[in-house]
Formats: sequence, C-alpha cells, structure tokens
Amino acid sequence: ESILLAYSGGLDTSVSIKWLQEKYGAEIITFTADLGQDDIEPEKLKQKAYNTGASKVIIADLKEKFIENQIFAALQAEARYENKYPLATALARPVIAEEMVKVAKELDIDALAHGCTGKGNDQVRFETAFSALAPELEIIAPLRDWGFTTREEELEYAQKHDIPVKVTKESPYSIDENLWGISVECGPLEDPWNEPPADAYQWTNDPEKAPEKPCILEIKFEEGVPVAIDGEEYSSVELVEKLNELGGKHGVGRVDMVENRLVGIKSREIYEAPAAEILLKAHKNLSEMVLDRESSHFLDRVSPKYSELVYNGLWHSPLRQALQNFLASFQPQLVGTVRMKLHKGSITVTGRKSSKSLYDLGLASYDEKDNFDHSAAAGFIKLWSLPLQVVKQQENEENGE
Ligand code: ARG
Ligand code: SIN
Repeated sequence: ESILLAYSGGLDTSVSIKWLQEKYGAEIITFTADLGQDDIEPEKLKQKAYNTGASKVIIADLKEKFIENQIFAALQAEARYENKYPLATALARPVIAEEMVKVAKELDIDALAHGCTGKGNDQVRFETAFSALAPELEIIAPLRDWGFTTREEELEYAQKHDIPVKVTKESPYSIDENLWGISVECGPLEDPWNEPPADAYQWTNDPEKAPEKPCILEIKFEEGVPVAIDGEEYSSVELVEKLNELGGKHGVGRVDMVENRLVGIKSREIYEAPAAEILLKAHKNLSEMVLDRESSHFLDRVSPKYSELVYNGLWHSPLRQALQNFLASFQPQLVGTVRMKLHKGSITVTGRKSSKSLYDLGLASYDEKDNFDHSAAAGFIKLWSLPLQVVKQQENEENGE
C-alpha cells in the first residue's frame, strides 16, 4: 500500500510518517506545498522527510496557482469570514488537496493522509476536497486515530523512533501561513481575555512601534486583479509579497477574534494578513465606485455566503462556483487605482479613480457644476413616502381622529 501524506515538517506530520508506516505497513510519500510560507527550506525539508522514513518526497511550488485560482477569486468576492478573517488557511486547503489528488493519480497511490486534528476546520476542508475530487481514494487522519492523548506521549513516540524534535518547545503556538496571511492559535491565546503576547505576532510590527511616517500607496487594478503598485507592475506573487512586507512594516493587517469553527467550537485566533487587508480594502473602495447601487449592495450580501462556503470546506461546491461565475461578471468594471495610506496599524483610503467610474460630478456637485434635476426630487419623495402616509392615515382613522 502507498499513502500520500500532506507534510509540513512539523512534529505532527513527522510522527505521522512513522505511525502510518507502522500501522499500515505502507510506503509513505510526503507532499509539501510551497504557498509562500516564510520558513520553507526545500533541502532541509526533504532531508528531514527522508530521515523520518518517507520513500519519496514531493515539494510543489503552488504560489502562482494559489494566487490566481484562490486568492484573487476570494478578493473578487471581498471575502472575510465573520467579517474579519480573510481566509488564508481556508483558501490554501483546496489548492493543496487538488495537487495531492493529481499526484495520487499519477503515482497510483491508495490513500491520502493529512495532519489535522479532529477538532478543527482543516480536516473538514481536506477531506471534503479529497472526496469531491477523488471519492475512490481512502482518507486517513493519523491525529484523529493515533490515540496519543498528550503532547508528552507524542514526543515520547517521536524520541523512540528517532524523529528529530527540535520543534516548538519554545513556541506554544500553532501556526499556519501562506501568502494570504498567517493564522496563530493556542498557548496563551486560548484565554480570550489575554492580550496576545508580542511574540504571537510573526509578520507585523507592533503598530505603536511602526514608523512615524506614513506610507502612501497607489494600487492599480485591471479586471478585479491588482497589477501595479505606484505605477510599477509586479507579478501576482511579487505584488502580494511586496504588500505583506510594506503592510507588515506599518503594522497593518492584524486581526484578533473569537470565531465559530464549523465543528461547533469557538476559537480565539490571531491573524496577520497585511496584503489581504490592503487589497480587500482597495477592491471594496473600487467596487463601490464602479458598480451600480444594486450590484454593489448585492456583492455585500454574496460576500458573507461565499466566505462561509470557503471557510466550511465547500470550495468545490456548485454554489461557490456559481457565485464565482456571478462575481466574474462584475470584474470587467473593476479597473482603476486606489490610493491608500498605511500608518501605525491603519489603512486609510485617500482617493480612487477609474475609467469605469459611475461617480458623476454633475450629479454630485453642490456648486455651479450641478446639473441634477432638483424638481424631480419632490415628486420622487411624494411617492416614496406614500406608503407611510397611508399607514398614518389608517392609524388616525382607527383612533377616530
Ligand atoms: N481558524 C483558522 C481557519 O480555520 C486557522 C486554522 C489554522 N490552522 C492550523 N493548522 N494551524 O482557517
Ligand atoms: C487543526 O485542528 O488541525 C487546526 C485548526 C483548524 O483546523 O481549525
């Protein structure tokens, strides 16, 4: 038997290699996606996986695929779970799962495995995607099945099997990161009243210690996709990396929230997503100028539903795809430039312009440029308020007035 394991190089997935080997007598092939996590060192990772017993190690650079297929799709939906979390981890799962299924088919692998716990969203996302794409493949979740009840038991098992454990003795956090953001949980964060210790934040400067001088940015969009910063064009990956760096320096993109996991648990989470916050805000400020009122308001309704689907592991659902197609119809309007100011943790939009702008100065202006038909307003208001007049009249009649 052969098993393809989603492998991060951390303690859990390292122990998973050995545990799967022992339990299933299987050949373990590890799969690691490079989604722009800071600390990925392919050579070290490879060595570690082989040393732990993997028979084949695959590391795939999925950065571009991830940005074009997931990140920009979510940007067009202006997606934030529960109005806050830009969904970095949730968006990454489908791209990892898709690639794993592809590899599994190529290598004729029997089962897919991941290192998620039984308490989280990620298990649901991986397994829902696996099932949607390759229902014939077996799915194994070592962390749900192996029966270690404490970290100590797991560490003991690791030591017994010569799995290098330099891991996280110092860091109490569980961390997942990619280009769209970093998710931090556990340790002192488990008490929602605790202010996150300084070391909980990995990417961003403390806003109080961020530069005094603001950074002014102009982000240019073409068809709903950011293409340039301050007139300079970047590839999608570079652009997001650049904004993470700039935003991080100015302390923007921090989120501290208690969120509702799909499995019913409330969880306290810290997110840092500088590029995501900047781009989501820019997209929103552009869309409010170039979309007609009804479309703009409808986007605000679609966005939470879309976010929920992504969060809940339903990336591959017909509804997510249908909403995507619907949102795609808006994007040709989304061309233009948004100017913003990053300063000590805040992102302020200070201007926007677009060849597709629906802002009409003649209609909006209060000075001599005004060409709005004021007399039409009186008739409009008469009819607009008519239902209320009818209500009042009925009340008066009932009260015998
Ligand atoms: N709560 C976030 C989510 O559900 C982050 C999960 C972080 N995952 C992790 N393996 N540390 O998307
Ligand atoms: C996990 O429990 O594996 C990570 C957290 C999550 O999936 O929500």
